[in-house]
Amino acid sequence: MAKSLLPYGKQWIDKDDVRGVVRTLQSDFITQGPRIEEFERRIADFCGARYAVAYSSGTAALHAASYAIDLGQGDEAITSPISFIGTANAIVFQRARPVFADIELDTVNLDPSEVEKRITSRTKAIFAVDFAGHPAPLRELKRIAKAKGLYVVEDAAHALGAKYHGRRVGALSDISIFSFHPVKHITTGEGGMALTNNAKLCRRLRLFRNHGMVRSDELSEKHGPWYYAMEDLGYNYRVSDIQCALGLSQFRKVERFLRLRRKLAASYLKKLKGVSGIILPKEKMGIESSYHLFVIQLKTALKAQRRILFEEMRRRGIGVNVHYIPIHLQPYYIKNFAYKAGDYPNAELYYSRALTLPLFPAMRERDVDQVVQVLVKSLAGLRSA
Ligand SMILES: Cc1ncc(COP(=O)(O)O)c(C=O)c1O
Repeated sequence: MAKSLLPYGKQWIDKDDVRGVVRTLQSDFITQGPRIEEFERRIADFCGARYAVAYSSGTAALHAASYAIDLGQGDEAITSPISFIGTANAIVFQRARPVFADIELDTVNLDPSEVEKRITSRTKAIFAVDFAGHPAPLRELKRIAKAKGLYVVEDAAHALGAKYHGRRVGALSDISIFSFHPVKHITTGEGGMALTNNAKLCRRLRLFRNHGMVRSDELSEKHGPWYYAMEDLGYNYRVSDIQCALGLSQFRKVERFLRLRRKLAASYLKKLKGVSGIILPKEKMGIESSYHLFVIQLKTALKAQRRILFEEMRRRGIGVNVHYIPIHLQPYYIKNFAYKAGDYPNAELYYSRALTLPLFPAMRERDVDQVVQVLVKSLAGLRSA
């Protein structure tokens, strides 16, 4: 292993971030204070959404979305097998059945025609994933959802700032969620958010975050000013003011971060054009990816050597990664939902040949050059092996 590894993703924290957090630490509220609403408002406005609810993680936001649409036992929700496990887990948390639909190989997003095939009388929602920052085919998915009376929950954890036919993701589905994990576009350490334009869904999103508790003038008048009522079973999924202070300061840099990610991706695309044996990511018409990840796929002749390539690049100091292992092939999903190898051929083919190259805003052009150089050298090694 090389001494220092260029990671596949990394946060960018500067003096303003530190100052913002310290100021909040010295204020009256370190949690349940004003920074939370302020952060929610910023993200909602940025995405053009009416409401936003911040959580302790993106997974908590996904769980809250499942609750808000009243997903429960006996229901099914269709989602992508190529995502972080949290997407499908959020369906299982509510005791519903996660039904996977295969992906399109070019964008690694849900294939709408595969989604259509999986709809039954039990289907309640489609959980779309904006893989690597490229929005899912939302028009097609929403058309299917509308015809069948389904909700669309968009896991936009990879896609803060991405554009779909001119509009930012975040307000295009019934509920959209973001994650603020350090490798994402902006960070709160851990954190997430759910956005919606629907007041009823928003009320449930808020209820779920705080133990299902409500306070109101009416309740205070009737029972006393201390009174709260637990309306439903909720969780403590709250985020702190300390985290939101970091989020607010990070948000001031979001446009810069997005510009840098797109510039680095353009640089990869230019420098890797013509390199044989690999398939480069593409943006479909009308899409502006926010490039959370830069994933290449090996051509069929080389896919059996992906592991050798991975280990060779790691040895040479490049923190390549693989996003993701198909969820239906995780032991838990095989055991509990009887999925098996061969169920989703595109997802499995994609998994066998995918390789994530480093991409984060603080990367320099010379880092891109180094990744390209190591990749090209390692690929040449494979061919002659
Ligand atoms: C697509 C996707 N969905 C959900 C999550 C969960 O977010 P968090 O780590 O904030 O819980 C992640 C984060 O890795 C993700 O990449």
